[in-house]
Amino acid sequence: MALRVGVVGMGGIGNQHATCHQDNALAELVAVCDLKRDVADKAAEKFKVKAYYSLADLLAHEELDVVDVTTSGYENGSWHYEPTMEALAAGRHVLCEKPLSNDIGECREMVCYAAERKLYLGCNLNHYFTPTAAQAKKYMDEGKIGEAAYLLFKMGFDGSEHTYKFNPSPRFNQPYGHMKAFLTHPFSVMRYFCGDITHLQAFAGRPGVRQSAGDLLLSINSVHCKFASGTIGYLLSQRGDTMWGLGGWWSCEVGGTKGSFAIENCIEKLTYYPGTRPGEKSEPEVLDTGIKDFGATFPNRIHAFLEDVTNGVHFEKLRSSGRDALATMEYIFAVIESYELGGQLVRPHPLPTIHGNPAVERI
Ligand SMILES: NC(=O)c1ccc[n+]([C@@H]2O[C@H](COP(=O)([O-])OP(=O)(O)OC[C@H]3O[C@@H](n4cnc5c(N)ncnc54)[C@H](O)[C@@H]3O)[C@@H](O)[C@H]2O)c1
Repeated sequence: MALRVGVVGMGGIGNQHATCHQDNALAELVAVCDLKRDVADKAAEKFKVKAYYSLADLLAHEELDVVDVTTSGYENGSWHYEPTMEALAAGRHVLCEKPLSNDIGECREMVCYAAERKLYLGCNLNHYFTPTAAQAKKYMDEGKIGEAAYLLFKMGFDGSEHTYKFNPSPRFNQPYGHMKAFLTHPFSVMRYFCGDITHLQAFAGRPGVRQSAGDLLLSINSVHCKFASGTIGYLLSQRGDTMWGLGGWWSCEVGGTKGSFAIENCIEKLTYYPGTRPGEKSEPEVLDTGIKDFGATFPNRIHAFLEDVTNGVHFEKLRSSGRDALATMEYIFAVIESYELGGQLVRPHPLPTIHGNPAVERI
């Protein structure tokens, strides 16, 4: 039987999620909700479902299985905590947009509360729900990469000082808006390939054009990190200050002792470079999906969540879980701490146990 889903927060992303649910046989979109009545009404008309103007009202009137939280807020995450906690309190599984919250205390609480309630909490870390990442992971699982020696990640919005516009919105006109709203994506992909990060060190800045405009956003982030596996990593992220350059919107290269791979433009292209023995010749293997729009990641990721909930997977097997999202936020808060300490080495806060906490008896 299809999962009964309600979507909360009907901006552009809420509409995108609602479309994915309506197009997916594992889901039945039952209702939409927004505090702004006109926004809720417009979406309800589009999807031919009922509109609600508060989550409390929606939960009181509809027997939902899943609440999909697509609100936004300060640093694009301050409106996630309340609806997520409200839905979990009502016994519903939750898929929450990223960042899990812009407040690390809230992120930890959300993950802990979902565990206590024995409910699924997933996050829309959609960037690795792609054919390129799946094939790259397959190379790793088949031993074709060997020991991952390094990971290089570069991510940016296309732009220049000619296209720059001061954004006075409180979502972004403060130092950490880009880090908190956005680094969750590259960190999620880096962790997907190379596991937990144990040490990191960061610099951050903003170009002159932002400084002259009085723009506070630290839009250029440079992060050096070490994974528990021993892999060394580097992340460079920027928010429309420069053109993309090599690799499109984002690129990720993993250099391994048996072979390397590089993903270009998120979902578009993967190249595998097999390592050769002396005297051997090899050609790179290329997967060119022809897909340039990363919007294609949404249906894939949402399908994975619906599939995991339908199948009742063990909590630790939930793909792109709240705990995975918490990990990325712990890294982001460590980046901020390192930046504030002038670039000192920082160890991210540890994550909750993966195999469950006997104190909350989730087996
Ligand atoms: N995963 C991705 O690739 C991706 C891409 C872009 C944006 N996002 C995330 O998606 C989220 C939504 O982005 P958006 O641009 O659609 O935001 P938006 O501000 O346009 O829309 C959010 C809506 O939520 C409503 N809202 C806020 N609190 C509410 C509450 N408690 N109950 C009901 N409605 C409430 C607001 O009225 C608003 O209409 C953000 O968190 C953003 O970070 C994710």
